[in-house]
Amino acid sequence: MRPCFGGRTLDQYEEIAAFLRQRLPLLPRIALVLGSALGSLAEAIEDPFVLRYEDIPGFLHATVASHKGELLCGRLGGQEVLCLSGRFHGYEGYAYEDLALPIRVLHLLGVRQLILTNAAGAIRPEWRPGEIMLLEDHIQLNGATPLRGPHLPEFGPRFFDVSQLYSQRLRDMAFECAEELGIPLRQGVYYFAPGPQFETPAEIRAMRILGGDCVGMSTVPEALAAAQVGMEVAAFSMLSNMAAGVVGNKVSGEEVDEVGGRTAPQLAALIEALLAKLGS
Ligand code: HPA
Repeated sequence: MRPCFGGRTLDQYEEIAAFLRQRLPLLPRIALVLGSALGSLAEAIEDPFVLRYEDIPGFLHATVASHKGELLCGRLGGQEVLCLSGRFHGYEGYAYEDLALPIRVLHLLGVRQLILTNAAGAIRPEWRPGEIMLLEDHIQLNGATPLRGPHLPEFGPRFFDVSQLYSQRLRDMAFECAEELGIPLRQGVYYFAPGPQFETPAEIRAMRILGGDCVGMSTVPEALAAAQVGMEVAAFSMLSNMAAGVVGNKVSGEEVDEVGGRTAPQLAALIEALLAKLGS
């Protein structure tokens, strides 16, 4: 029997890229992905050209309420940017292979730098909701990789290094920007949990022992797809809540959205400053 492979063919990725090349007014080299409750970051983009995901043939559709489902193209921090306002997750029912699609399309469009954002639960007890963490590294031990399937050499080697996935250069620049803006910035390890349920306190204790500083349900699949094609990656976690049980607490989706909405302007300022520095 022929095995049933997930993912897409190169032609399918190329078709989406060709459609976008015709429609987009600019072909920026920098892209942003906006996570849960961070959609308001898109409002800072000047003169945006907007395409709804469902109007892009072959693209994925955003199903999570706090994710808008729009591709924006415009200027932020003086730089031309593409912005995915709303992302895709395994817990929506997407195969992990599907999650490589937006990133591979961005690569075909010429994007070289990727800034990822997410909402995450703080595992470190001394951290607080509302703080921002820069990813130094991640842990993903459940096999949830978008890179399974037939190897397409156009998207990089099958076996590749991820020992420096989150760019030291971009992290240094982000810390400089944070200092200039007076925004406290944490740095740590993001533990990927598949969701959609939040974690049990015992799972959080295990993650802490394994070296996780915060926990979330996104970012890692995109970061892996980006690393394979050789993009320079930076990722920010907005700490929307204390992870389950860290301070004897429960976790709620409402808290994630409320704190995310409140913290989004700070993260937007930081990203805008980072983009301006990248262009200087
Ligand atoms: N766990 C997993 N994902 C999350 C959390 C959390 O506590 N907060 C925001 N996203």
